[in-house]
Amino acid sequence: MGYREIYAQWKADPEGFWMQEARAIDWVKPPSRALSGDRAPLYEWFADGLVNTCWNAVDRHVEAGRGNQLAIIHESPVTHLRKGITYRELQNRVASLAGALRAKGVEKGDRVIIYMPMIPEALEAMLACSRLGAIHSVVFGGFAANELAVRIDDCKPKAIIAASCGIEPSRIVHYKPLLDAAIDQASHKPDFCVIFQREQEVAKLIEGRDLAWHTFQYGVEPAECVPVEGNHPAYILYTSGTTGAPKGVVRPTGGHLVALNWTMKAIYDMNPGEVFWAASDVGWVVGHSYICYAPLIAGCTTIVFEGKPVGTPDAGTFWRVISENRVKSFFTAPTALRAIKREDPGGEFVKEYNLKHLKICYLAGERADPDTIAWAERHLKVPVIDHWWQTETGWAIAANPMGIEPLTVKPGSPSVPMPGYDIEVLDEGGHPVGPGTLGAIAVKLPLPPGNLPTLWNAEDRFRKSYLSHFPGYYETGDAGYIDEDGYLYIMARTDDVINVAGHRLSTGAMEEVLASHPDVAECAVIGVSDTLKGQSPLGFLCLNKGCDRPHADVVTECVRLMRERIGPVADFKRALVVDRLPKTRSGKILRGTMVKIADGGEWKMPATIDDPAVLDEIAAALKTVGLAGG
Ligand code: COA
Ligand code: AMP
Repeated sequence: MGYREIYAQWKADPEGFWMQEARAIDWVKPPSRALSGDRAPLYEWFADGLVNTCWNAVDRHVEAGRGNQLAIIHESPVTHLRKGITYRELQNRVASLAGALRAKGVEKGDRVIIYMPMIPEALEAMLACSRLGAIHSVVFGGFAANELAVRIDDCKPKAIIAASCGIEPSRIVHYKPLLDAAIDQASHKPDFCVIFQREQEVAKLIEGRDLAWHTFQYGVEPAECVPVEGNHPAYILYTSGTTGAPKGVVRPTGGHLVALNWTMKAIYDMNPGEVFWAASDVGWVVGHSYICYAPLIAGCTTIVFEGKPVGTPDAGTFWRVISENRVKSFFTAPTALRAIKREDPGGEFVKEYNLKHLKICYLAGERADPDTIAWAERHLKVPVIDHWWQTETGWAIAANPMGIEPLTVKPGSPSVPMPGYDIEVLDEGGHPVGPGTLGAIAVKLPLPPGNLPTLWNAEDRFRKSYLSHFPGYYETGDAGYIDEDGYLYIMARTDDVINVAGHRLSTGAMEEVLASHPDVAECAVIGVSDTLKGQSPLGFLCLNKGCDRPHADVVTECVRLMRERIGPVADFKRALVVDRLPKTRSGKILRGTMVKIADGGEWKMPATIDDPAVLDEIAAALKTVGLAGG
């Protein structure tokens, strides 16, 4: 069957479609029905089934005779190490870690924060939680202590599992002091912390609170898999929204298993035993779905890569890893390819490696520009497939389903909706618009299995953020259009979220940080176009009346403050001091117009502007830093 038949089959009987796919999962008790809609517009999938994620990702493969197959390969150019872990080893390691957590009181439903770099132990920690039915929340290493503290207070973990350090090319990231500071700042205190000591830095443990990864497992009884209900949260992953408070996206266990397993063949064309590599980080949704869970659920080998696309040691690293590990499907962010292309425009490094096992390269996380796709196709000589998704969905909303039927690629489009997603483009009034017309992209409810059923402890926020603007739909926060052939085009966010190097960041959160500087009276943050990172944050600061401090000092302090409060991942390096911000007559800051001016594109004077002269002042300020055509 081709894509159109499969999509039509899903549309004719969504519940039947997903019940059929659910058979590929090992259930302790199969679900009696697929969808529960008693609380519509809130929905749940496979709610009354009993299942365990770790069993499906690890144990069942050992039982099926894959025990000696590599489950994880750690490729760490930053430590010059490389090692493999078989499914049997993974089962033993995860059962032991889960046993030790259980011995310290971690049970089904307890939350556990994981704060670790790209090492196999991060996946082991995630799987150990799944084994117990505990709910993990992984926090990306590039966030500051304050962001970790916010997450500790929101999900109230019983335990935190961390590593002593992470390794960035330019420095060691001292995780332990960040963890200690976060726990100090947070009102909630975990019962205990487990620290994985790395050779590069041995952290000082706090007696009575911190336990060492190995010694804490010594002599414990390994834990078996604990069955949980299909609607039990597998994990919480925080993502950026409009305000400073991150949204805790909840991932439901049953739908997560069923949907991810379906995607591995249908979208990524992967079979058990083959090698899959997503070059992302476990701190992001791509890392959850396609470094940890999906490849393992499908019985593939996954690669945990601790390095960068360039500089570790060179722009050929990706191609070496693909070649030496016989990677079949490879997934990265466009920004990573742009970084490689900038250093190796002629693709000389690609020629040094035998990439015969590579069949497809997938891109997501931000808009894939046609130039980058063309460059990658020219040098890798495989299809380069853009696909579109979000933390909230956990898997692709739109893609080119290579395992079903490779469709014609249209540069600039992530192709077509996947089964499960009935997509409409809506105007401001919530009416569907015709082909080629720009609007808000929305998904008709119910969302498919694996998508978020709610936000952690914030059902009202879930309803307000996603369901209330267009009743009957999930609002994606992306704007775009659908062409005559049903291909989607994702053009921009409709909210204050920006995308910097494939990382989703909130300008609202950044404004909260700037506003806390004692000399700042008013501020705005916008995302300006950046040839490498897609977007780059730029701050505008209006200083308090009477503040006569040198502007450069205030800017330096603001840059430092952002690094301390949000973290290096914010990549906030530039701010301009201005007298006034452009506003509408009702006082709304005209951020969209500021972005257009900064990018040097065409813009129209907003009819609602209070004082048009302010935009000239903004343009002049932007020109001083080479923006707005300056
Ligand atoms: N822990 C701690 N700090 C981190 C970090 C981590 N896991 N990841 C990034 N940082 C820090 C970096 O060290 C850097 O700090 P600096 O300001 O001191 O230099 C800052 O955060 C910004 O990092 P990054 O965005 O990686 O920028 P870069 O200039 O170092 O590298 C790219 C540019 C394009 C190579 C890099 O952004 C990249 O590989 N992007 C792909 C991201 C990706 O795969 N996303 C997938 C999401 S689906
Ligand atoms: P995240 O939740 O971090 O995965 O970020 C999701 C957001 O990234 C989406 O809402 C889009 O704005 C953007 N995004 C992800 N993939 C794509 C893509 N293929 N094309 C355009 N934008 C994308």
